[in-house]
Amino acid sequence: MSNTLYDFGMIGLGTMGRNLLLNLADHGFSVIGFDKDISKGATLEAAATAGTTVKGVSTLAEMVQQLKRPRKMMMLVPAGSVVDSVIEDLLPLLEKGDIVIDGGNSHFTDTLRRITYLQDKGIHFMGIGVSGGEQGARTGPSIMPGGDIAAWKEMKPLLEAVSAKVNDEPCVAYMGKGAAGHYVKMVHNGIEYAIMQLISEVYDILKYHVGLSNDELHTVFKTWNEGELQSFLIEITAEIFLKEDDLTKNRLVDMIYDKAGSKGTGKWTSQDAMNLPVSIPTIDAAVAMRTLSGFKDERTAAAALYKPTIKTITEGKEKIIQLAHDALYCAIIISYAQGLSMLHKASSELQMDIPLKDVVRIWRGGCIIRSSLLEIFTAAYKRDAMLANILLNKKVAAIVKKKQGNLRKFIQKSIAVKIPVTALSTALGYFDAYCRERMPTNLIQAQRDLFGAHTYQRTDKEGTFHTEW
Ligand code: 6PG
Repeated sequence: MSNTLYDFGMIGLGTMGRNLLLNLADHGFSVIGFDKDISKGATLEAAATAGTTVKGVSTLAEMVQQLKRPRKMMMLVPAGSVVDSVIEDLLPLLEKGDIVIDGGNSHFTDTLRRITYLQDKGIHFMGIGVSGGEQGARTGPSIMPGGDIAAWKEMKPLLEAVSAKVNDEPCVAYMGKGAAGHYVKMVHNGIEYAIMQLISEVYDILKYHVGLSNDELHTVFKTWNEGELQSFLIEITAEIFLKEDDLTKNRLVDMIYDKAGSKGTGKWTSQDAMNLPVSIPTIDAAVAMRTLSGFKDERTAAAALYKPTIKTITEGKEKIIQLAHDALYCAIIISYAQGLSMLHKASSELQMDIPLKDVVRIWRGGCIIRSSLLEIFTAAYKRDAMLANILLNKKVAAIVKKKQGNLRKFIQKSIAVKIPVTALSTALGYFDAYCRERMPTNLIQAQRDLFGAHTYQRTDKEGTFHTEW
């Protein structure tokens, strides 16, 4: 065994683990990676940039023993029981002061449990959210570390070096106490689900009602990406429409089965929003629509039974494209607002002290939900770090006021032509309800009191009341 001491170790050399390690090596760190599959170690070494120090090994012991102290290592393995079993395998090899990072999409409650478990043994355990997919890991992801402050200080130079940069500022910052890193990443993914669902609804109208070809869809999204909608998700959507299928020579997007997968982070966001509680209906709708997409057989039967017909228009296309643009922009802002309001609430409820101004700042680059809107949000939280909801910021309000009329018109049109716009509608519904000083929930309180003596509060005096209805 060589005596070289490495700066950083990676457990799990799948694409994400390998790419992050190569990224670290490119920034001058000596790195070592472990994977049970020996071929992955070889792939890692073969992909290393000339002159960098990169080693692949096939036992955990070989990796741990060759790390500099305090030993710093990250797991990038599937979330769930695999993380626990890697921790058990690691424990006999570790010593007090070592830093173990879980860089996967683990549920924050698992992270909290693991922090306590390892703290008792003198091991620093951190949950870190890493966003940016395979490419991001290789060239610069957005990194969301949380928990152990001492470990964060040790890790800071490495994480800053590999992260994405916006105006030379690294897209990594301390996200708060406990499992804040994984919590912020979970909500990032919830927003990701919402934006993807919103884009798919707009695509539905533009393809089936407006009748745009894939080339035209490409042009629309490409143009949008050059304006206020500029974002990673709009950019890749434009690219997708051009990709040809090797097998049929059709556009690939048309050959892809319409059942969406998911690994759980969107669902967890909705579940925890209900626990807090906080209202994030557009994220909930996005999760629900992915679920409904899985009921293909039932949808096919229902389509045969109800025979919805979707009329394609021949005139007025430009007008609908403009409505679609404004509707999407407005609903995306409202989706961020829901996710950020969740972080605001969770920050105090779960005692994480999440710095929202840093969250939006590090989301400006590297991550899947990066967009030019994040610049506006960063300025808003700089003004008021404790802003409960981004919709309360004057600059954001000015945009939403201007666009909400077209969101409304676009939804009306979609409903009239029987194209479901569930996420767009929930965004508008949330906004309309949020702007109502008086909601109709007085009636719900009356009903609860009538059938269950659940009591109510009055508008004119303090206290709790019950009426014999
Ligand atoms: C990211 C992504 C990444 C992953 C999602 C996909 O930020 O890089 O969010 O973590 O692509 O987990 O989630 P689903 O499989 O649930 O869509």
